Parts: sequence; C-alpha cells; structure tokens
Amino acid sequence: MKRRTMIGAVALAFAMSVGTAAVAEGLPPLEKKDRYKVGFPQMESNNPWRIAETKSFQDTAEACNWDLVATDAAGSAAKQVADVDSMIAQGIDILFLPPREEKPLIPAVMRAKAAGIPTFLVDRSVDPNVAKAGEHYVAFLGSDFIDQGRRVAEWTLENFKGDKGTIIQLEGTTGSSPANDRKKGFDDVIAKHDNMTIVASQTGDFARDMGRQVMETLLQAHPDVNIVYAHNDEMAIGAIQALELAGRKPGDDVLVVSIDGTRDALQAIIDGKMGVTVESSPFFGPLACEVMGRYASGETIEPWVKVEDRIFTKENAAKHVDEAY
Ligand code: AHR
Repeated sequence: MKRRTMIGAVALAFAMSVGTAAVAEGLPPLEKKDRYKVGFPQMESNNPWRIAETKSFQDTAEACNWDLVATDAAGSAAKQVADVDSMIAQGIDILFLPPREEKPLIPAVMRAKAAGIPTFLVDRSVDPNVAKAGEHYVAFLGSDFIDQGRRVAEWTLENFKGDKGTIIQLEGTTGSSPANDRKKGFDDVIAKHDNMTIVASQTGDFARDMGRQVMETLLQAHPDVNIVYAHNDEMAIGAIQALELAGRKPGDDVLVVSIDGTRDALQAIIDGKMGVTVESSPFFGPLACEVMGRYASGETIEPWVKVEDRIFTKENAAKHVDEAY
C-alpha cells in the first residue's frame, strides 16, 4: 500500500475508534502513544528570541516524551520548506512549525496534512486567505501581534514628552506575520494623532546588525527623529547603537520603543535608553506539549491558542531582568 493511502486508512480506523470532531473535519488525528517523534523546523538562530524558542522545545522534549527532530533554516524560507519535507519523509508524528514568512511555507503545510501529520503553527502564522486553522492545519499557538503594535503605540502616546513626534519604524522580516501585524497595530493608532508622523518605515529583518545599519542610513535622511519604533528588541538595540554613534541620546532626545522582552532590552530600559518593550513570549514548548495532549485525547482545538503578553517599563524591568533570555 502507498504511504499516503496507508495513512488515510490508519486515520479512518482511528477516527472510527475515537470519533473525534477533529478527524470529522478532515484533519489528521494524533494517536495516543508513549513517545512521539516531534518535528520543529526553526527558521533561524540569529537572535536570543529564536534561541530561547528552540531551547524551550528541547527542554520540553524530555518531560513530554518527545524524540525531537529540530532543524535550523538559517534565515531561508526555501530551506525551511525543505526541512519540513525531510521531516515528513522521516515519519514525524506531529509538526510544530514557526513559518518564517506568510506565503512560502503554505505548500509544506498542505503536504504535511496530505501525509497525515497534524500540524500546529507556532509563534508566526501563514496567509489566512490561503491556509486555515481547523482545515489545513490544526491551530495557531501564539501572540496577538496586532495588539502588540497597538500597545506600543498607546504607551508611546501616553509617555512621549514632545509636542510633535517624528517616528522611524524598523520593520521585521518582510512578508512575515509579526512584521505585517505589528506595523498594522501601530500605524492604525498613530494615524489618529495629527501630532505624530511616521517619516520612514523600513525592514531591518528582525536582526540587530541590520537594524543598526538601517538606522544609520535613515538618521541621515531624518536627523529630527525623536521616536524609534522597532518591531523587535534586537533591532531596537541596533538602533540605540546607531543613535549613540551619531551623538544622539536614546532615552533623552529619542524615545525607543519595541517588542519581545529580551534581557538586553530590559537592561536598556533600566539604563534609561529604552522606554518600553511589549512582551512576545518565545517559551512555546510547554504549551505545545499541553495542546498536543488535548488533541491526542480527541479534543477539538480552538483555531487560535492565544498567548497573553506582559509589558515591561522602568516600573518593572529590574524585577524581571534576571529571568529574561
Ligand atoms: O515571530 C516572533 C518574532 O520573531 C520575534 O519578535 C523576533 O525577535 C523573532 O525573530
């Protein structure tokens, strides 16, 4: 029997034995087992957030009885697709995928489903017009990125001391869900305030060094900038370096605001160089374990398992810096 037909037969037999709603909707079921072969194709490992996320999966593997197959696509969506395909060929039981960008990973999601492998998107999502939770993959586990951008904008409006805000925005990876959504959340709030202007918005690819380089260039075109909004802490730290090199005083004559909650960002807040970072938790391992347990028991999983995020400012950064990554 061909692999796919065999998987179909197994899925049907399982569906008949447990009668789960998930299976009835056409999603691959997850058999109850003592150990699972779990796929986690990481997109890159160039920043503390990604390293913390991978470590969270590695740390969970023992507690949750996983044989973890983890890869690193080194910043290439094409390599991440190839990594998923290789995991499908290796016969993983379940896939936890953080898709680097919204569109290129969709065919891989479809192939995992066709191979009978339940797939959960973690931290980032794919284009919801093409692939849907509950239909093409089981569920999305992650933060509300639009709300993160909105919260940064609201905090900025409440805490900016000047009359007119001249804003530079450093965007995340082009085509990724956090870059799209964090921009939308922030821009929508800022657009309602006449005293605030976003004079430039450019990608720094979620990377510290690129954030620094882009900030250096944008500073020359917009020397009057007094607010920098970075879509993640790494780019915010890069921007602070560029500002200081140019003789500016972050925290004094420029307000730097961002998202994630890394140790370096909390330290920058303590040092008075950054105003706020809205949390975006990378610790998905325990949540993945809990949700797959529910799925294996036949529960229908909600399409979006939402992660609640805190906010770090000078009021609480010192309390949390030691536990940060
Ligand atoms: O998808 C979440 C984002 O990706 C984090 O904010 C960022 O640091 C990471 O690379």
